[in-house]
Amino acid sequence: MIPFEGFPHVIESQQFSRQFVEGLFPVAEAMRKHPQAYAKTLDGVVVCVDFGEVSTRTFKSFDIGAKRLGAIVSGTQAMDKLSSVVKGESFADTVRTIDSYEPNFLVMRWPVEGSLAQAAALVHPRCSVINAGDGPGQHPTQALLDLYTIWRQFRSFDRPIVVGMVGDLQRGRTVHSLTYLMAKVFPQISFVFISPESCKMKPEIIRYLDRHQRHYIEVTKPKLYELAEAVDVLYMTRPQLNLEPDVSVQEQLRREYREFILTAEIADRMKSQAIILHPLPRNEEIQPEVDQNPRARYFEQAGNGMWIRMALLERIHHARTGHDTSIPG
Ligand code: NCD
Repeated sequence: MIPFEGFPHVIESQQFSRQFVEGLFPVAEAMRKHPQAYAKTLDGVVVCVDFGEVSTRTFKSFDIGAKRLGAIVSGTQAMDKLSSVVKGESFADTVRTIDSYEPNFLVMRWPVEGSLAQAAALVHPRCSVINAGDGPGQHPTQALLDLYTIWRQFRSFDRPIVVGMVGDLQRGRTVHSLTYLMAKVFPQISFVFISPESCKMKPEIIRYLDRHQRHYIEVTKPKLYELAEAVDVLYMTRPQLNLEPDVSVQEQLRREYREFILTAEIADRMKSQAIILHPLPRNEEIQPEVDQNPRARYFEQAGNGMWIRMALLERIHHARTGHDTSIPG
């Protein structure tokens, strides 16, 4: 059975159904409980983790996660600095070259939106391409770990839930992927998009929400104080300065962001069961004192990334081979 649309590649979060994530989360839970039991799950499976854009969490969690499952892992950071790229090789030729070493997974980050879809069209059928971030496009495995963190808190997709997303909603790929995914799995979701006027949520995502009749409001005048009280999940993001080449626009973004800072005082006003998430790295948008607040879950969220990515690799491998390794025995 095909576990999700677009299988075996993971390019965008709309590919995942509620049924798929409901099957994925228990696998991640089982793995974190009994990691030793999964030490041979990907025995002999070749996983390339190749990043042409900086990363700490996504790279490490895939690298360590695949190793914990017993895979043969080849990880490369700063692919954009490798000799072939510096010597003028095209992205397509780089992908074809990696594919010639016969990987089963190519987990890749590249600064150009749409590049991972291009990679998926180039590789051999043995290989699953996983988008680990394509510039300002998407970051579907981050959406899975964000949703997993939310599910661990609320344990249900059927309750009404209000999610506030704050910051650079135009360029931040994590909010793109998470909005698509949450719109699919939570029938009773309401979004509050809180951003400076210059970086509102992408129009195509707003159109998606309209098409699927999901409830949302967009707020550009900073009212973080009042909004924080109303949300169940407050998802903070940094200004994506690295994706903005124009220095004057960077300066403007820095200035505008001063109005969107989460302080300890605002965090204290949130609902007692609400949670504060951030894909990390953070800049100044969450003050360090907020870390003491029990609602602050961003480091736990980062840790969840490893388990959910392990579960994803296992589910794809299982669907390919037919061996159910979710409960080793
Ligand atoms: C994010 C990313 O790279 O998109 N980080 C991550 O993967 N955890 C968020 C960001 O860079 O702002």
